[in-house]
Amino acid sequence: MKNIVVLVSGGGTNLQALIDAQNSKVIKKGRISCVISSNPDAYALERAKKNNISTDVIRRKDFNTFDEYDRSLTELLKSKNADLVVLAGFMTILGKNVINEFRNRIINIHPALIPSFCGEGYYGLKVHEKALKKGVKLTGATAHFVNEVCDGGPIILQKAVEVKNGDTPEILQRRVMEEAEWKILPKAVSLFCEDKIIVTGNKTEITL
Ligand code: GAR
Repeated sequence: MKNIVVLVSGGGTNLQALIDAQNSKVIKKGRISCVISSNPDAYALERAKKNNISTDVIRRKDFNTFDEYDRSLTELLKSKNADLVVLAGFMTILGKNVINEFRNRIINIHPALIPSFCGEGYYGLKVHEKALKKGVKLTGATAHFVNEVCDGGPIILQKAVEVKNGDTPEILQRRVMEEAEWKILPKAVSLFCEDKIIVTGNKTEITL
């Protein structure tokens, strides 16, 4: 059984999708042991508590330097014995220390089809604002491993979602969550827990 730690910052609908997948046995070989938030007021923490999952908070602003923050987050994750770290709407960039320690063991969900609409400055609603501004007809979500390049690590799963007439960033965000994020994130976590993801360089292969 893999020990999963989920990092959150906000509403936590992706965390909820993971909890639901665990309860419905879509995720069979992993267990969420802890939810860590960058924001003490995140609703995601309530979702964890309702499901008897332990919680913790770590804020970048409580550290003098980014390096101290990076090292403390690494130690916190090690103290939780995390096999897998999931970024489910985690809005703080990770440092090199934590990325090195958990190489190909950190999965992020990004609300666009990488390499479109990704990288620094592309997070949350901003991603959908930019997709609408460009006028793309298809967008979607990507589950990927985290490396030193922002949104640049090995892609695990992607799912496309249609952009429709009259979409606002909020409407599009909701459709991308419902049709893509809440499906591919639990699936990617499940594949990881079953040791079905082989990483070669910056690519992955899913074994049957
Ligand atoms: C989700 O759309 C997630 O993909 C996005 O933030 C939202 C969090 O929602 N993440 C990023 O933009 C990361 N670059 P949630 O808290 O309801 O899961």
